[in-house]
Amino acid sequence: MKILIIDDDIAVCTSLKLLLTQKKYEVETTCSPEESLLWLRQHTPSLILMDMNYSIETDGREGLDLLQKVRIFHPLVPVILITGWASIALAVEGIKLGATDFISKPWDNESLLQSIKNNIQWAEINHDPSTASRKELDKQYQLSNIIGEHPVLMEVLSVAGKIAPTMSTVLLTGESGTGKELIADAIHQNSNRKNKAFVKVNLGGISETLFESEMFGHKKGSFTDAVADRIGRFQMAEGGTIFLDEIAELSLASQVKLLRVLQEHTYEVLGESETLKADVRVICATNRNLTEMLKAGTFREDLYYRINLIHLHIPALRQRVTDIPLLANHFIRQCCYANKLPEIQLSKEAISYLKMQSFPGNIRELKNLMERCVLMKTGQVIEQADLEIYLENSQSHTKTNVKAGLATLDEIEKEAIIKAMEVFKGNVSRVARTLGLSRGALYRRFEKHEIPYEH
Ligand SMILES: Nc1ncnc2c1ncn2[C@@H]1O[C@H](COP(=O)(O)OP(=O)(O)OP(=O)(O)O)[C@@H](O)[C@H]1O
Ligand SMILES: [Mg+2]
Repeated sequence: MKILIIDDDIAVCTSLKLLLTQKKYEVETTCSPEESLLWLRQHTPSLILMDMNYSIETDGREGLDLLQKVRIFHPLVPVILITGWASIALAVEGIKLGATDFISKPWDNESLLQSIKNNIQWAEINHDPSTASRKELDKQYQLSNIIGEHPVLMEVLSVAGKIAPTMSTVLLTGESGTGKELIADAIHQNSNRKNKAFVKVNLGGISETLFESEMFGHKKGSFTDAVADRIGRFQMAEGGTIFLDEIAELSLASQVKLLRVLQEHTYEVLGESETLKADVRVICATNRNLTEMLKAGTFREDLYYRINLIHLHIPALRQRVTDIPLLANHFIRQCCYANKLPEIQLSKEAISYLKMQSFPGNIRELKNLMERCVLMKTGQVIEQADLEIYLENSQSHTKTNVKAGLATLDEIEKEAIIKAMEVFKGNVSRVARTLGLSRGALYRRFEKHEIPYEH
């Protein structure tokens, strides 16, 4: 494993070289962009550590310029930028130009080594895009509770399996009910952390004032309501995995606090001065569009790039229609077994009908539907008509609170959306979930009814 260090500061080069050779990496050091490009024309390192400033300039332009040139010769070699903490915006720009990670000066040796290891592992995985069959995947990984054979899902599972043993932070995105939590759990189960805790935290449910105390814990008396010591979620997850669900719900102030623990792998319990090390694998999830939030300034770019090193997008159920029969039959069997009921079947027409549904609630909705059918059905076969009853009911249940009177369906729809927006204070994800709509479908309805919303 060869690592190229590019830095004009000889002291930095020397101490990095010492650290890395101790860890059995081969190291090459170069002091200027020109020298490094000469070397890179003839060699391919496993990873590059790159300073952003050379000569007297301190705006980082030289680093960005060099990065772009390096990318031409070596599009796949991971590049870690070394920047001052103050120039985090620069690092973000670097990531946009193809750097894989950044580390701030003065660096923490352990974090740096971890980042190097992650980036090399991830690059190896990237070089080898797999087209493994479901059978092959099942041989390699424990994924038995995840049903599906659609190529897009298989790609997700294959990457999830490969990155499971690494320390990399993973971002899971996808609509509500697509299986984000299930996949987060699978990543933990397939890692060597599986015997340690998997701690789930719903960030949507934690207020800004309690964020630190929830995540890092507090000592009795450290603030007015701290009547007893409290163990934080990071400490509970020590040695294991923390699953930060609904990451998009974090306030900007809390985002900074989370960034620090992700960046430096350290935190402090409120009311204590000691700095603790966090050996915790972080998996984040959201059903919101984080890139839109970056543009709107409601999600920090540096945090985004920190959690986004590995991004798995889980497709909506309507994008993997071929999995619908497999999943439906799985849920029927599971429900019959759990309730000691004789097995029942889906008719051919019922299967075709299911495949035509849009399932805004995705797999969760399909699962609920199948369970209702199994529990209510007296015969041996679930017919299309049985499904129709439940699907119609579930689509109209949200409207039962609206006094129908002489209103048209459109008016009722509009009223339901406005009410839900009031109740959830304009939180689009929650409104969509409550109304059983995808976010896209909800946005289309905002436009149609001219309901104001935040982008
Ligand atoms: N591929 C799958 N095979 C079997 N069951 C699945 C699959 N995907 C999801 N499920 C089931 O569907 C339900 C919803 O999944 P999960 O909670 O992981 O979704 P989510 O993406 O986290 O949703 P939300 O955004 O609403 O939190 C769970 O009961 C889960 O077990
Ligand atoms: Mg979830």
